[in-house]
Amino acid sequence: MATLAELATLRTDLSDATVDHLLRLTASWSLLADLSFSDLLLMARVDEPTNRGAMNFVVLGQMRPNNRSTLLNDDLVGTTQTSDAWPLVRLVFDSGTRVVGEVTVEKVGESVPVWCVPVRFDSKVVAVMVRLQGPLRGPASLYEQAYLSIFERLCSMVGDATFPFREDDVAGPGMPRVGDGIILLDGLGEVEFATPNATNALHRLGIYASAEGRTLRAMGLRVRVVERSLEFGIPAMEEVDRGQDVAILFHCVPLFDHGVVTGVVVLVRDVSDLRQLNRVVLNREAAVREVHHRVKNNLQTISSLLRLQARRSDEIETRTALQEAERRVRSIAVVHEVLSREPGEEVVFDEIVRSLVLLVEDTVLALHPVEIVVNGELGVLSTDLATPLAVALAELLTNAVEHAFVGFGGALNEHVGVVTLNLVQEEGYAIAEIRDNGRGLRPDFSLEVPTSLGLSIVRDLVRTQLNGTITMKSMSYAEGGGTLVRVVVPTSVRD
Ligand SMILES: Nc1ncnc2c1ncn2[C@@H]1O[C@H](COP(=O)(O)OP(=O)(O)O)[C@@H](O)[C@H]1O
Ligand SMILES: [Mg+2]
Repeated sequence: MATLAELATLRTDLSDATVDHLLRLTASWSLLADLSFSDLLLMARVDEPTNRGAMNFVVLGQMRPNNRSTLLNDDLVGTTQTSDAWPLVRLVFDSGTRVVGEVTVEKVGESVPVWCVPVRFDSKVVAVMVRLQGPLRGPASLYEQAYLSIFERLCSMVGDATFPFREDDVAGPGMPRVGDGIILLDGLGEVEFATPNATNALHRLGIYASAEGRTLRAMGLRVRVVERSLEFGIPAMEEVDRGQDVAILFHCVPLFDHGVVTGVVVLVRDVSDLRQLNRVVLNREAAVREVHHRVKNNLQTISSLLRLQARRSDEIETRTALQEAERRVRSIAVVHEVLSREPGEEVVFDEIVRSLVLLVEDTVLALHPVEIVVNGELGVLSTDLATPLAVALAELLTNAVEHAFVGFGGALNEHVGVVTLNLVQEEGYAIAEIRDNGRGLRPDFSLEVPTSLGLSIVRDLVRTQLNGTITMKSMSYAEGGGTLVRVVVPTSVRD
């Protein structure tokens, strides 16, 4: 389904700023639908040639009330409506004023009351908000009358471009709804009426005084945003807490008449349960974080133990082995560090790559200066893949830095050692190529019979754990020389 912005661009000649205004209107108009117990449609003029004198409209938005059944079962967004079917809409575009009348709705089979409200922006009527009023259940109750009068005031504001507000932080999901509770304040901040739900919310805050005719402040409740809304005419939200257990959200919508604030609609929502749930979730998250922290500390302890032991051993072979073990633990720690920052099923692998390169540069002492260049990226990978792949890459990068440039000795100054890591994810595979411009593999080298530990680990990780393939070959002089290692690993979840 096309979005409002797409429809407006394709079918109308409305400016970007106007479309923005309409987007803000539709982001907050569920309030209007609920206050009026009505279906709402937003129609704009189609910018296409029509038969003489006719006018076509495109439906840019549709909103159903939450507190009544809808009159419109169909999704009308994106449909074209003619001025013949909607003469009242046309009248609004022509006259610039609100038009009230009746329209026949097919599904209902009878005519229903309709309001056509001009939506003004930059002193022009840019769209029409159509309100299709459902059947009333008997005479309107006191609350219904109050809701409708607020709706009417908001319609006037839509007509002179004071609603929706420029501040868009008051619209959207999670905002209080009409059904949650409403307090209507007059221009002095005195309560005109409060719905039963709103009264309950006040009780939870410990306020039992009768509200009518008094300001919230006089009742002993200080809500800063209410005062701000009254004084400056800006919409705002604030959560008022009472102890650990009670949290009430106040959402203020100022009402204007000819540029003067004449009242504030305060939508009130009891969010105590939500907050308590949040607290439980937060506690659990804190526990997970703590575990991650301990694992990280333990890995650090292991690597410093290995380092200490390496320093103490006199035999060069033992020392090298211990140093290598330490490097391997550190590459696991690097992955763990990134994984623990964003607990989840997936991880942005490129952050890991960055840390791995630093690690290799930091721990591998080559006789020859070597530059590591990373091209491309692997993007997001599943966390089960991340650790084995990272350890394998660390091993291969280390080998390139360590072995590729042995014997270059004298030519040190002319030859710049470069190790390139090319990364790409395509068609369900993560592909990593490590190449160097060094001396290449020894003629008798075979990946299938490594007796050395490093490549045995890599083989096991890539083939057994990651279900992937690895190839290693020397490059000819024409190809730039050196060694090319290619690792291909499927990214989909394995058994
Ligand atoms: N990029 C490379 N260039 C040249 N030789 C390499 C390269 N990578 C690996 N080798 C060779 O493969 C051997 C085995 O590597 P590995 O299993 O990691 O053991 P180690 O690094 O401990 O020697 C190395 O000793 C080296 O001779
Ligand atoms: Mg090695």
